[in-house]
Amino acid sequence: MSPELKSKSEVKPLSISENPPMTTFVMYFNQLLRRALKRPAVSEPADETSALSNELGEYESESVQKTLDPNFVHPKILEARQIQDRIIQERFQGQSLRIADIGCGDGYHGETFGSDSELYHGFEISSEMASKTRKRWQDQGFDHSQVFEGDAGRVDLPSNFYDVAWSLYFTSGNFREEFKNLKQYDDAYLDKNPAFVRIVNNFYKALRPGGKLFLTVYKDKPETEAAQREFYKMTGQTVVTPLGSRFVATKENFWSVRWTEQSMLSNLAECGIKPEQVQFNDLNEVSWLVEITRPVQLESLKEAA
Ligand SMILES: C[S@@+](CC[C@H](N)C(=O)[O-])C[C@H]1O[C@@H](n2cnc3c(N)ncnc32)[C@H](O)[C@@H]1O
Repeated sequence: MSPELKSKSEVKPLSISENPPMTTFVMYFNQLLRRALKRPAVSEPADETSALSNELGEYESESVQKTLDPNFVHPKILEARQIQDRIIQERFQGQSLRIADIGCGDGYHGETFGSDSELYHGFEISSEMASKTRKRWQDQGFDHSQVFEGDAGRVDLPSNFYDVAWSLYFTSGNFREEFKNLKQYDDAYLDKNPAFVRIVNNFYKALRPGGKLFLTVYKDKPETEAAQREFYKMTGQTVVTPLGSRFVATKENFWSVRWTEQSMLSNLAECGIKPEQVQFNDLNEVSWLVEITRPVQLESLKEAA
């Protein structure tokens, strides 16, 4: 069974009081989201894949949750996370922006941006993580923040809406369909990963012209692979993939891919994103912060036509 997207009654509605001209649009947006939330469960494919859902349930596992706890994070990966956080803070903190956090986890980044942003939307597939985020943001009194529970590739979003969308801390490397046979995640799959493409496509189109999408990803290097494997062991997980595999999977259903520039670009090409729109910002030797810009001019030309 696949879950339906759902919001919780305790979630505060988007605040419209400070910005009356936005009222109609926000109501429209809420309507779209409500429609998505009511959508019937996606059907199960006939083969051994399952629909994109939370059936993997990896973030319900205590050991996988430890990957979010700095005490259990490999130093190179923690360093990447800290540099990533510094960059986004320097560029966006204190600004009134519409931000989408894809795979928001326990709401960590929302805490930094929730008070100043025009709105901060978290998208999270794990019920447990979504509940944690909801509580965390409510405790902070953020009335412009909201969590949408379900697969980020399945939520209906308005076009040209967000200033920034991000999927931080290697989250986009977790997106995949569930295969029982790990051999199905071959290079052809990783170079055109349907789950990744669906999610990136969804949020790319939801960016306003000139908007930015950020993805923190692992570089495909032996030292990254060593850090990944060590990291998952530090959290108490059991790695089940052989050395050399471009993704590292664990018995606990965790799965995290490493990227080459080419594999990132081939996935992005499926979303209509061209190499000149993509910047690979080095975080450290094991990771990039990939920055994708939605063109301004192309969009205005399209709109004028
Ligand atoms: C590596 S954690 C990162 C959490 C957070 N972004 C951070 O930086 O601390 C990845 C999160 O993405 C969520 N996730 C994975 N696939 C998803 C999907 N298809 N839609 C929404 N959330 C997803 C997981 O449940 C998990 O909470």
